[in-house]
Amino acid sequence: MMPTRVRLVEVGPRDGLQNESAIVATEVKLELIRQLADAGLRHIEATAFVSPRRVPQMADHDAVMRGVPRRAGLTYSALTPNLQGFEAALAAGADEVAVFGAASETFSQKNIHCSIAESLQRFEQVMGAAREHAIPVRGYVSCVLGCPYEGAIAPAAVAAVADALHAMGCHEISLGDTIGVGTPGHTAAMIDAVARRVPIEHLAGHFHDTYGQALANVYAAMQLGVAVFDASVAGLGGCPYAPGASGNVATEDLLYMLDGLGIDTGVRLDALLAADRYICEALQRPTRSRVAQAR
Ligand code: HMG
Ligand code: MG
Repeated sequence: MMPTRVRLVEVGPRDGLQNESAIVATEVKLELIRQLADAGLRHIEATAFVSPRRVPQMADHDAVMRGVPRRAGLTYSALTPNLQGFEAALAAGADEVAVFGAASETFSQKNIHCSIAESLQRFEQVMGAAREHAIPVRGYVSCVLGCPYEGAIAPAAVAAVADALHAMGCHEISLGDTIGVGTPGHTAAMIDAVARRVPIEHLAGHFHDTYGQALANVYAAMQLGVAVFDASVAGLGGCPYAPGASGNVATEDLLYMLDGLGIDTGVRLDALLAADRYICEALQRPTRSRVAQAR
C-alpha cells in the first residue's frame, strides 16, 4: 500500500512565511521560490490572496505571483478564500488556487470570519469561476486532528467537510493538522474515516510539527495510501489564528525520510538545504529542519 512516488507540495512561501511578524521583502520571497524550484519542487504554494489587514505578510501577493519564475511543469498555487481573492489570483497568473475550510466552527469563524456552511457557499462561487477559467482548485480542511479553541475534532466532522469540498469539484483535499497535535493512531483513524467518503488518491496530508509528530503522521498516512504531502522549507511557519502552532514538517526532513524509503519525489536534498540556508539567513533565525541542523 505504501506509495512508490510522492508529490511534495511546498508551502513555505505561504504557510511558512505568513506567521512572520517582520515583513519579508518580495525579492527575498521570489529568490526563495526560485531556489525551491531549482531543487526540483514542482508544486509551490506561492502566496495567499487574503485580506492584507488580516495577514500583512501576504499583502504583496500580486507582486509575488506576477514575479515567480515560470518554467514548464511548475505549478504555482495561492490561497483564495472568496471570489475577490480568486479574481486577483487569476489576474496575477496563478496556475491553481486553494480554498480553505475547517472541521471546527470556532476556527472557521476566527480564521475566515464565517461558519463552515457559509464558507462552503463562498467556495462554490470560487469553484464556479475557476471552472470557467479551467483553473484547478485544491481544498484544505483545517483542524483535522484538533482545534486550538474546541479541542478534539471528530473524524466524522472532517469527513463531512472533505466530502463537501470533493463533491463541489476540488481535485485534491489537503487534510491539515493546523496545530500539530496529531499522533499516528489518530491520523490513521481520521484518514480512514475521510477515505470512506473521498477516494484516497484525492487526499493530501498537511502536518504541522508542534509536538514532533509530523513525520510519524506522514508515515501513518502513507501506509493508508496517501501520496501527496505539504511541507515547508526549514520547517517555517504556523497559522496566525492558531496560537502556539509551529511550522509544517520541514521539507528537507520529509525528503530525507522518503529518500531513505526509496520513494521517488524528483526533489534534490542538497539544493533544498541551500534554500533552507538562504531563507534562515534572511529571517535571521535557526532552521527547524533536523537534517539541516545535522549537516
Ligand atoms: P472578512 O473580513 O470576513 O470579509 O474577510 P469582508 O468581506 O467583510 O471584508 C473585509 C475586508 O477584507 C474588506 O476590506 C475586503 O475588501 C477585504 P476593507 O473594505 O475593510 O478595506 N477582503 C479581501 N482583501 C484581499 N483579498 C481578499 C479579500 N476578501 C475580502 N480575498 C477573509 C474574509 C477570508 C478574506 C478574511 O477573513 C481573511 O483574509 N482571513 C485570513 C485568512 C488566512 O489567511 N488565514 C491563514 C491561512 S489558513 C492556514 O494557515 C491553514 C492551512 O495552512 C491548513 C492548515 O494548516 O490546517 C491552509
Ligand atoms: Mg498550515
